[in-house]
Amino acid sequence: MTVRICPSILNADRTRLLEEIDRVATADLLHLDVMDNIFVPNQTFSITECREIIAHSKIPVDSHLMIANPDDDAILYAEAGSASVTFHFEASQNPRATIKVLKESGVRVGLAIKPKTTFEAIADLLEEIDMLLVMTVEPGFGGQSFMSDQLPKIESARAAIGALTGVLPWLQVDGGISLETISLAARAGADTFVAGSAIYKASNPAEMISILRVAADF
Ligand code: DX5
Ligand code: ZN
Repeated sequence: MTVRICPSILNADRTRLLEEIDRVATADLLHLDVMDNIFVPNQTFSITECREIIAHSKIPVDSHLMIANPDDDAILYAEAGSASVTFHFEASQNPRATIKVLKESGVRVGLAIKPKTTFEAIADLLEEIDMLLVMTVEPGFGGQSFMSDQLPKIESARAAIGALTGVLPWLQVDGGISLETISLAARAGADTFVAGSAIYKASNPAEMISILRVAADF
């Protein structure tokens, strides 16, 4: 299985963000958490800051939109140059239409579900997307503990992906991914791993990326 590691810059040092981005350039994708203080009780990067981050990053940017109105606004993050744009199912009035608009822009399309949302709720959209993001914490903050009660959902998603034909969507996990938990998520079927604290709290983030990669590849 191809393993992808996606460092989240949410808890990187904001006073030297561009340097912090350069420190993780051996990763597969840079994970950009966009929060609007409506969908989640926290606010992060403005669209202007997102454009700067995307322009600076040497690796493709994986934008994770925790915003209340993705149906109107997700396209802005595709136009800003993201390689991948993931929006929350819970925030969308018409996920199928938003997936279509994003796809037409040429970006990879991800759909995210919060811990209380079942896999079955989005199962019929699986064929339309490039990535499913199963949140393993309540979205909003870095540094929370991995919710192991999400593992059966990851297993269900992997089983359903296995039954598809053609190019298969990636299965991403986000929240509490560490050296201890990454193998649990990988064994359940995840192939794409967001890690914030684990990477940025390490003394050598690049080395931690390699260690996480090995731990996920069993
Ligand atoms: C949480 C964000 C995550 C967060 C992960 O809502 O979506 O991407 O930065 O941080 P850690 O790895 O510290 O849980
Ligand atoms: Zn995220």
